[in-house]
Amino acid sequence: MKPSSKYGYEPFPHHFVPVVQYAGRLADELGGDKEVILIAAWLHDIGSIIYGRDDHHITGAKVAEEKLTELGYPAEKIALIKKCILNHRGSQHNTCDSVEEKIIAEADVLSSFENLAGIFKAAFVYENLTQSEAKESVRTKLENKWQQLHFDKSKEIIKPKYEAMMLLLK
Ligand SMILES: [Fe+2]
Repeated sequence: MKPSSKYGYEPFPHHFVPVVQYAGRLADELGGDKEVILIAAWLHDIGSIIYGRDDHHITGAKVAEEKLTELGYPAEKIALIKKCILNHRGSQHNTCDSVEEKIIAEADVLSSFENLAGIFKAAFVYENLTQSEAKESVRTKLENKWQQLHFDKSKEIIKPKYEAMMLLLK
C-alpha cells in the first residue's frame, strides 16, 4: 500500500493470495515442505513490489534471506526458499530441482486463471491496447500459461476455468 509500489495494493488479493492458496493445495497433493512452500509463496514477488519487475527473482531472494535471517529462521530452510524465489519465473528459463521450487513456479502460473480482470487491466492500462487487441492478447497469454503447466494435477484443477475463458475469448 506504500506510494512506492507501482501496482498498489491489488497484487495482494489478486495475485499473492491465489498463489499461496494454489501452492498449499499442490503441497498437499504433491508433497514437499509445506511451511517452506507457503513462506516462499507469500514472498515470491516481494522483489517486484519493492524494486520493480526486472530481476525481481534475484532482488526478492535477497529480501527474503535478509528478513528470514533477522527472524532467526533455520538457514537450510532459508536456502530452499531462496531457490524457490530465484527459480519461479518460467520466462527466465530457470530450472527447478526440488518439488518446492516446482510448486511455486506452478502456483504462480495457476494464479493467472484467477485474475482475468488483472490480465485485461494490464492490456488496457499498461499496454494501451484496443478491445480487439486486448482480447487477442489475453487469449494468447492464457494459452501460453496453460502450456507452461507441468503437473497433470494442475491441469485437472484449472481445466474448467481455462475452457470457460477460452470459450468467452474466442
Ligand atoms: Fe507471481
